Amino acid sequence: MITLIINNQKVTVKQGTTILKASEKLGIEIPTLCNHEGLAPYGACRLCVVEIIKEKENRIVAACSFPVEEGMKVLTNSDRILKRRKMIAEFLLARCPDVKVVRDLANKMGIKKPRFKPKNKDCILCGLCVRVCNEIVGIGAIGFVNRGKNLKVDTPFHLASDVCIGCGACSYVCPTGAIEMEFDVVQRFRESLGSEHICRYALMGMLSYKVCSNNYECWKCKVDQKIRDTLGTHPIFAAKEIKSEKVNQYFSFLEKIQA
Ligand code: SF4
Ligand code: SF4
Ligand code: FES
Repeated sequence: MITLIINNQKVTVKQGTTILKASEKLGIEIPTLCNHEGLAPYGACRLCVVEIIKEKENRIVAACSFPVEEGMKVLTNSDRILKRRKMIAEFLLARCPDVKVVRDLANKMGIKKPRFKPKNKDCILCGLCVRVCNEIVGIGAIGFVNRGKNLKVDTPFHLASDVCIGCGACSYVCPTGAIEMEFDVVQRFRESLGSEHICRYALMGMLSYKVCSNNYECWKCKVDQKIRDTLGTHPIFAAKEIKSEKVNQYFSFLEKIQA
């Protein structure tokens, strides 16, 4: 166990815990935009910056990816940090002035209008979509392409993906609404994977085999609705880290009736 001090409050957490998690334990809120507890930290948005003081040295680090250290002192709201976060929020607002989550965040920090030229983008380059597709779905249908100001999320060579299973996990995790799942596209992706209509749960590896009897209109499927209600999240997160015994039992039941 590691003991550290955050904003003058002592906290003890397991080794390997991030500063963000340790702060949560104390009820200290740190803004985040690219963090998701089911995905590896990426440190893209830099909103979660905090100041650490160790051996008289002050450093600014990303709380979502920096692990706690014994005796570490952390300041989450120092003047230096608030100024830095405000600048980041201003850049984000200039990049995505119409994105609600960005506007709300900037407004909360007292920024109504950025001083920089608006870019009118809808993607904040947080990488959540890329990470979920790689790490959780295990497909890697999308990734970052180009560099610098042309950096963006795309399929390889900007071509319609021949590996995407249309699971919708990328759209689910996107904080800005930049990825919308259009039913006909999803249907096309799934159909291109085989002549049989394989259920999306089988495509996601949650069931060994199941044919969709609803023409991929999941909202008409009782199994799909039941699973979504039971999980309360996108099923792909539960597939990798089954959270409740009830869900486990449900899947074993489905496997049995298919056998
Ligand atoms: S729909 Fe699923 S497989 Fe396709 S890009 Fe999004 S996460 Fe990847
Ligand atoms: S599309 Fe959405 S999830 Fe993907 S990088 Fe952009 S804002 Fe993040
Ligand atoms: S939440 Fe830590 S860098 Fe984005």
